[in-house]
Amino acid sequence: MELREVIGRRRSIRFVRPYQPVERHKIQRMLEAARIASHWGNVQSLKAVVVEKETAPAEIIDALYAPIAGWQIRVAPVVIVWYLDTAMVDDQSNRLRELLEAGALGFGEGKRDALENQLIPIFDAINESLKQPGLGEVDCGQGIAQATLMAYEQGLGTCCLGTPNTDQIRERLGLAETCRVLLLQTVGYPMESPEAGGQRPRQPFEELFQLNGASESFPRDPAVVEELEGDGMFTTPAPLAWREAELEFLKGALDLKGHGLV
Ligand SMILES: Cc1cc2nc3c(=O)[nH]c(=O)nc-3n(C[C@H](O)[C@H](O)[C@H](O)COP(=O)(O)O)c2cc1C
Repeated sequence: MELREVIGRRRSIRFVRPYQPVERHKIQRMLEAARIASHWGNVQSLKAVVVEKETAPAEIIDALYAPIAGWQIRVAPVVIVWYLDTAMVDDQSNRLRELLEAGALGFGEGKRDALENQLIPIFDAINESLKQPGLGEVDCGQGIAQATLMAYEQGLGTCCLGTPNTDQIRERLGLAETCRVLLLQTVGYPMESPEAGGQRPRQPFEELFQLNGASESFPRDPAVVEELEGDGMFTTPAPLAWREAELEFLKGALDLKGHGLV
């Protein structure tokens, strides 16, 4: 499948098969994809604990349950707890030195001196502010996105879930205080159809993107839209006609109660 089609067809999959474990090699590929994602200064603050329902102690699994959409956590055979370790920022200077030696940062004869005497002191001076929520989270998002695409490529479905229980999860998993739990990603083999109801609604392009300032929308060329439709990046908008019937079927098959929201 071409990249454009993958971008268009990957959906958050909430309904996965509770009875089918996910092979570790597939999870490993997701983690490998996350590891090579870009990160400012090559700091790599994105880390994860993989919680396997089959092998994890009950107190670890219990710590993950959330009051909102907790059934997804209950159903999924694997939950990846993605977290950001701010302590990685403390080794920032060495990451910059590695980048320089790798030929990925700087050029010219004086580059080593400039790194030691100019760039590293700038980063050292703002070390603590770089640990605050912001750029690091963006980088973690890139890594999680790569892992998500790798999951899709391997026939898996995933859904990212925010959680209010970040402190409890951090403590129960034994993570250091320097760590911020970002989100839980459920992983499993999809029970719902790959369309998962169709393309989920999105805000209008013109409202989201601007050109040369906030007042002018970035011009959306219909020819490009048509091309992307042809490439399969844009698919049928949700809801597909049979989505409600599919949801009813899934609710019954998974013995889910209530409305699936809270
Ligand atoms: C960072 C992130 C956090 C999310 N948190 C939740 C959540 O807490 N609960 C939930 O039901 N869905 C959550 N989602 C899933 C979104 O609701 C989902 O992406 C959205 O419905 C659009 O569907 P799509 O991903 O298939 O396009 C989250 C998604 C992302 C990327």
